[in-house]
Amino acid sequence: MHGFLVSALLAILRCAQIPYHDGGGGVVQIQVCTVPHNSRNSMADITNTNRERYYHLFTPKPYGPTPMLVVNQLYKCWNEQYNTAFDSITSKIGPTQMFASFHGPHAKAVGELAGILIENIDMEDPSNMQAIEFFDYIRRRGDIHPQLFVSALPMALVSTRSSLIGEPTPPLVEMFPSRFLPRVVEGPEIKLSAQSGRGTNKTCIKVDQHWGSTKTNGIENRLWYFREDLQLNSHHWNWHQFHPTHSPSPIPRRGELFYFFHHDLMARYASERMANGFTDYFVEGIKPIVDYELKQGYDANLRDGVSYLNWVNRVNSTFLNKTSLSSKLFSKLKQQEIIWNHIYQITQTDKVLDGSNDTVPLMPKPDGINTIGELFESSQWSINSYFYSDDGWHNNAHDILGKVLVEKDQSLKKEYGVLSDVATAVRDIYFYRIHNEVNNMFMRYKHKILNPYELSQGDHPYIVTNPKSIQVRDERGHLVNNLTTFWNNRDMVLNGGLDILPKPGDTDPLFLYVCLKHLDHQEFTYIIELENQDEKDRSVFVRLYMAPTYNPDRERFNLTEQYPLFFAMDAFPIMLGRLNGYQSLVYIDVRTSTHCFTGNFGKTCPCGYPHHLLLPKGSDDNLGVYDLVAMVTDGSDYNGQPTDLCASSYMHCSRLDGNLEYPDTRPMGWPFDRRPSDELSQAYLDRLVQQVPNMAKTTVTIVHNDVEPKEHVI
Ligand SMILES: *[C@@H]1O[C@H](CO)[C@@H](O)[C@H](O)[C@H]1NC(C)=O
Ligand SMILES: *[C@@H]1O[C@H](CO)[C@@H](O)[C@H](O)[C@H]1NC(C)=O
Ligand SMILES: *[C@@H]1O[C@H](CO)[C@@H](O)[C@H](O)[C@H]1NC(C)=O
Ligand SMILES: *[C@@H]1O[C@H](CO)[C@@H](O)[C@H](O)[C@H]1NC(C)=O
Ligand SMILES: *[C@@H]1O[C@H](CO)[C@@H](O)[C@H](O)[C@H]1NC(C)=O
Ligand SMILES: *[C@@H]1O[C@H](CO)[C@@H](O)[C@H](O)[C@H]1NC(C)=O
Repeated sequence: MHGFLVSALLAILRCAQIPYHDGGGGVVQIQVCTVPHNSRNSMADITNTNRERYYHLFTPKPYGPTPMLVVNQLYKCWNEQYNTAFDSITSKIGPTQMFASFHGPHAKAVGELAGILIENIDMEDPSNMQAIEFFDYIRRRGDIHPQLFVSALPMALVSTRSSLIGEPTPPLVEMFPSRFLPRVVEGPEIKLSAQSGRGTNKTCIKVDQHWGSTKTNGIENRLWYFREDLQLNSHHWNWHQFHPTHSPSPIPRRGELFYFFHHDLMARYASERMANGFTDYFVEGIKPIVDYELKQGYDANLRDGVSYLNWVNRVNSTFLNKTSLSSKLFSKLKQQEIIWNHIYQITQTDKVLDGSNDTVPLMPKPDGINTIGELFESSQWSINSYFYSDDGWHNNAHDILGKVLVEKDQSLKKEYGVLSDVATAVRDIYFYRIHNEVNNMFMRYKHKILNPYELSQGDHPYIVTNPKSIQVRDERGHLVNNLTTFWNNRDMVLNGGLDILPKPGDTDPLFLYVCLKHLDHQEFTYIIELENQDEKDRSVFVRLYMAPTYNPDRERFNLTEQYPLFFAMDAFPIMLGRLNGYQSLVYIDVRTSTHCFTGNFGKTCPCGYPHHLLLPKGSDDNLGVYDLVAMVTDGSDYNGQPTDLCASSYMHCSRLDGNLEYPDTRPMGWPFDRRPSDELSQAYLDRLVQQVPNMAKTTVTIVHNDVEPKEHVI
């Protein structure tokens, strides 16, 4: 730190007026404010001091000391350079207003801020000196909304493929506790709730099923542990942060990943609904239209820590009409049906209207789904944002449902429901209905246009290394194919957050002590028996999927019904030695596997499905029966480095190490992402496994032990 201070102080600021030729042939003066080159070491990697400064951008306490001489001049220079740009941003959202990512002006402000950040990321400078100085400046300005900053930053990093993508940051819950945890703040007067505060009084705020049960959430509250899980919520936010709607060049397969990531959540949600006795496990998709009735209400019991406003609850039986929507949203609603029809046409014809208004075949790479994804969601890379809507059907649906009732009832002060923001959306029951409609659209295309996969050639290539069997064992190694889930507690002490800032004059440390009840499971190991019939060492790639075996009437699912219910458990490459016909048992411990399908708080994996939700809850009456499938293919399916720790939490997140390529070459969700062949459509899974040599399956029982977790006392 000393060295940094000295070199920065000695340096001379370069804040020159340089001539710049505008398009019209004139010359305008623009300012360029940069950290002096002699205070950087352009070949050097990020310093520990800057790594720490970067981390502290996301913590409540400003990180100091700051080299004042340079900073004052730099800050002055930046203030002048970006004066108008910051005015434009703060006119869209002030620093103490409530932020909602699906609200148009806020989304625009994110884009504008990202643009400014990008200008200050020097792709040639691995030390990231200028970038970190500039980010720090943004934090210290005080007029940039913290949510705005945290949303714009990944967009800027992704755009520049910055090496900062891999740098540690605190988990989202530490940055924004009020986005995830009910009632950590009480308002409207700025006051922390009784169980949080200052000093050392540690009585925890309990977060469990009781938040929703007495409110409008009714029987749907049985799924509180899934929809309101703080890590599932932050996983969804992370996903959207790292797959931004705007980037200078397309992010490879982003539209396809939009489909697969959300499809996987829907399949898991269906399994959780079945485990809780719901017969409508794959909830019906909704197509919001005029006079549509939103039968179920939802109350998140969340209060935003920046604005001290509640997220607005929706009451049962709310209609989408002129009484419940502002005129702007009402016309948006009317547009939705037209947009939906335009997208529907693609799924029936395999043709898309491009930017020149020409009807062209959907690009078949790998199967057209990417193009549909890029126009369903708001995206700069939509093939025709005029015809398929600039905001995207999906974003409009969030926006309309998130603001139903809100703008018409002045007493609610014009704010948002949880569907309006990516950090909170998965809580609402209607998130799953919107996304099942999105999923239905992708499926219409896959079912109508794409052929079922072939079984032992072509799409299902036979390879010489095939799985003979798969099983799971519990951590003690004696219970075979019998896994247990249970309730657990996690305690967290958070030091405020970017959304709950200390007031001027506060000296005692601020703390929030939270006890979270969450679903958990006994750890287990996959044991896959692989036979290498080759003379050589071979690398193979393994995909693991799971789906419920029986429907709520205890009848076995046929393949047509079961395919959409498969959700990802993991995927990873394995190197097999030359075995001269011997068989090889591969043990994969779900905790230590390096492939990191799952991620946990801020550890090595910044983005990943929550580990504690890896298994569905199962059932307490021994009827939580699931099929577990291993699909083995040639190692060339995988482009990544097998040794990359968490570069490959990629199944949901692509790669977040600055290489945003999706390393697995097959269609996402393969081989369950299309319909089964006509011959197999009524058959059960065993028939498929018999016909596909590189597939193995087993049946796993998941028993839920429904006992309250032990209270934790600090
Ligand atoms: C500590 O918190 C509990 C529960 O909110 C409260 O009843 C108690 O008065 C507090 N004690 C102190 C010393 O602040
Ligand atoms: C809302 O409807 C659900 C059923 O969907 C019901 O369980 C709940 O009690 C209702 N809430 C109110 C306040 O009527
Ligand atoms: C419009 O929606 C409101 C709020 O859901 C409802 O009270 C009203 O009955 C609806 N009006 C018509 C004409 O459907
Ligand atoms: C495409 O058609 C729309 C509506 O007819 C029109 O507004 C737009 O200018 C056309 N775009 C091009 C590139 O011709
Ligand atoms: C699974 O194990 C539990 C005990 O952990 C036992 O009660 C149950 O009967 C077992 N179920 C099966 C299908 O083996
Ligand atoms: C298989 O599933 C389809 C779709 O749900 C259903 O229509 C059909 O009746 C099922 N076939 C059998 C033999 O159960």
